[in-house]
Amino acid sequence: MNTVYTAAILGGSGFVGGELYRLLSTHPQIDVQFVSSESKKGLPVERQMRSFRHHSHKPGLKFSSISDIKDNHYDLVFSCLPNGKLPQRVSLVSEHCTRLFNLSGDYRFEEEAINAVHYPATPGSLPPQVVSQYFVPEFTTPDPAATLINLPGCMAVASLYALWPLVSKQLVTGNIIVDAKTGSSGAGKNSAETHAERSHNFRLHKAFSHRHGPEVAKLQQLTTDPLDITFAAFSLDTARGIYVSAYSTLKPGCTAADVRQAFFSHYQQTPFVHYLKNGQVPMLKTVCGTNHAEVATLVEGDKCLSLCSLDNLLKGAAGQAVQAANLWLGLEPFVGLDHLNEAGWP
Ligand SMILES: NC(=O)c1ccc[n+]([C@@H]2O[C@H](COP(=O)([O-])OP(=O)(O)OC[C@H]3O[C@@H](n4cnc5c(N)ncnc54)[C@H](OP(=O)(O)O)[C@@H]3O)[C@@H](O)[C@H]2O)c1
Repeated sequence: MNTVYTAAILGGSGFVGGELYRLLSTHPQIDVQFVSSESKKGLPVERQMRSFRHHSHKPGLKFSSISDIKDNHYDLVFSCLPNGKLPQRVSLVSEHCTRLFNLSGDYRFEEEAINAVHYPATPGSLPPQVVSQYFVPEFTTPDPAATLINLPGCMAVASLYALWPLVSKQLVTGNIIVDAKTGSSGAGKNSAETHAERSHNFRLHKAFSHRHGPEVAKLQQLTTDPLDITFAAFSLDTARGIYVSAYSTLKPGCTAADVRQAFFSHYQQTPFVHYLKNGQVPMLKTVCGTNHAEVATLVEGDKCLSLCSLDNLLKGAAGQAVQAANLWLGLEPFVGLDHLNEAGWP
């Protein structure tokens, strides 16, 4: 008999929380027993989720206020709260769970100067019982002692997938320009801009000062070669999807074969990140609705263009969280993430 782990989702009425609930409803070893929404407290969870329009999983489950988490203890809590909303509750939530997976940006950084600019609600220190880890499944070894697992930003992680092998294998130096395009669901259900305003358009969202920039700059920790990374985010006319184009300069003597070898060796055993064959390029249609990411590289002389596509709500958020939870629980990677479990809403 397989162990079944109890789980709670904070912010379950949002885009990411809804996707997480949908994925976990098919997970044979994670049982979601608590879903928070302050605005929908007391309402049946699945009646508010269009993914459950034609079937139900737990018809009796109702949204709760986060403060009600004190009534029970959960093996896993997934926080899908907006940036700045977890810190005020991190003590309470940590006392009532074994592991807290955090999808917001709070606690991705230890550097106070970065938090002061990008995550001002994140205090300098955590409660003493909390052990925090920034975690990208493909690059980080789970720390068994970690109780707060901080997952990466969606555009940041797509950029890391496009660049990590180049940097960690010391193939590039100097300027790297990262151009990240994202769909409208990246801004959450209460975006100030409606999709009607955004559609049939393409524009810059933010250059130089986007909060995912410092996450991409963590790449410097992998190399002694000086990197100068510029990050800019653009708004796509799609609901889902992220497409990253990263331009870098190869060090003298590095060839296209070195680049292919670096990416191939990094991604040959990553079940959800796929390094494409020569001639193929990442697309949104082949990843949206799934937990898969596609990566490709093109080299011309000393210029390297590396590309990545993924679904911001899945590989960039809810699917990544299920993948991380499976790793911590010692489960197979595809549990709750198989090809039949593809997304529809939004
Ligand atoms: N969207 C993406 O592509 C994406 C990708 C990666 C990471 N993330 C991160 O994932 C988190 C959720 O994103 P999202 O797009 O799902 O956001 P969202 O659609 O705006 O949902 C936010 C959720 O948090 C709840 N909430 C809002 N304010 C709250 C407050 N003051 N106290 C308690 N609960 C509150 C909302 O519930 P009620 O309003 O019903 O109370 C809702 O369930 C964010 O931190 C975001 O940065 C998002």
